[in-house]
Amino acid sequence: MGKKIVVIPGDGIGREITDAARKVLEKISRKYALGLTFEEKAAGGTAYDAYGTPLPDETIEAAKNADGVLFGAVGGDQWNDLPPEKRPERAILGLRKSLGLYANLRPVKVPAMLAGYSPLKPAIITGADILIVRELIGGIYFGDRCESEIKNGAERAWDLENYSVPEVTRIARFAMKAAGLRKGHVTSVDKANVLATSRLWRRTVTDVAKEYPDIRLSHLYVDNCAMQLACAPKQFDVIVTSNLFGDILSDEAAVLGGSIGMMPSASIGENTSLYEPIHGSAPDIAGKGIANPCATILSAAMLLRYSLNEEKAARAIEQAVDAALQEGWRTPDLYQEDSGLKKANTQTMTDAILAQIG
Ligand code: NAI
Ligand code: MG
Repeated sequence: MGKKIVVIPGDGIGREITDAARKVLEKISRKYALGLTFEEKAAGGTAYDAYGTPLPDETIEAAKNADGVLFGAVGGDQWNDLPPEKRPERAILGLRKSLGLYANLRPVKVPAMLAGYSPLKPAIITGADILIVRELIGGIYFGDRCESEIKNGAERAWDLENYSVPEVTRIARFAMKAAGLRKGHVTSVDKANVLATSRLWRRTVTDVAKEYPDIRLSHLYVDNCAMQLACAPKQFDVIVTSNLFGDILSDEAAVLGGSIGMMPSASIGENTSLYEPIHGSAPDIAGKGIANPCATILSAAMLLRYSLNEEKAARAIEQAVDAALQEGWRTPDLYQEDSGLKKANTQTMTDAILAQIG
């Protein structure tokens, strides 16, 4: 009955933050009798140094057979001169492809005590709780393209956007189910006033919504959505959108939170899903023991929610992170002098969260 988690620390602060998240998962596993077991695998620059490839076959195999993958981050200047197929980032693309990760999830939730870090006014951002669901392996990023051709005497290039009904159905179903665990509202974002792919998208999402009578569905054009995220983010619950629109909107939404060290993500696959912070390997602070572990710990909570169906345990982690922040603990990325806050490093922040789990 045990559930196997494959942990891929990667490079830079990846080791520090995945160790922290693993400690939290171990404690939660004991408390809720989840029977989690852990296996560690290499990827990124450190894997290249040890095995001559950024993504060893053994890592792919283990990931495919896992119940969930917890990923740190990859990359670092020392590997920048390698040929493209040896570079650390290849590990991410390779895992995305081998696990068929079709949906990328980014929650944006700003606890009141961190609202001051958002570029938005506290009154606008406080209480916002959004989940962006981005289609990840279709659309214009994977369509046919032409780098250069001459037509009517002028050089041009083109990229083809296409979506099939099964592709849209799959992501729409995921968004509906995710909304069922939240406030029950899905906003589908497209550009149906202009694009044929968007009209198919809208029609398909509308059809899928009929399978979920408890979910409220709204549609929004992407340009309007970009504005609404900045001026009225509290209206959203789940946002579902295409690869291209989701790439842009999820980065816009990520900065609303104001603090990269707090933002988790998930990439959902047909069998195995992968969970990682949205930030990178932070080489500037790697090895110093001061990285903020919260984004990775919150990614571990998403693993419990979306891969293991353990909603209660997931919420316990999220509440423990909130409570540790409420107690005043802050890693240096969020610490302010003379604020009465308590300065934490990776270890003390993790301990404060563990203490809240009890
Ligand atoms: P980054 O996200 O690693 O760092 C940006 C800034 O945020 C740095 O000042 C860093 O110290 C800070 N930061 C990031 N995470 C933090 C945390 N948990 N706690 C405290 N501070 C934190 O982005 P950057 O510097 O552009 O890239 C560094 C390396 O990471 C590059 O090699 C890049 O390719 C790679 N990268 C990898 C990603 C992944 O593995 N999914 C995603 C983004 C970048
Ligand atoms: Mg992006």
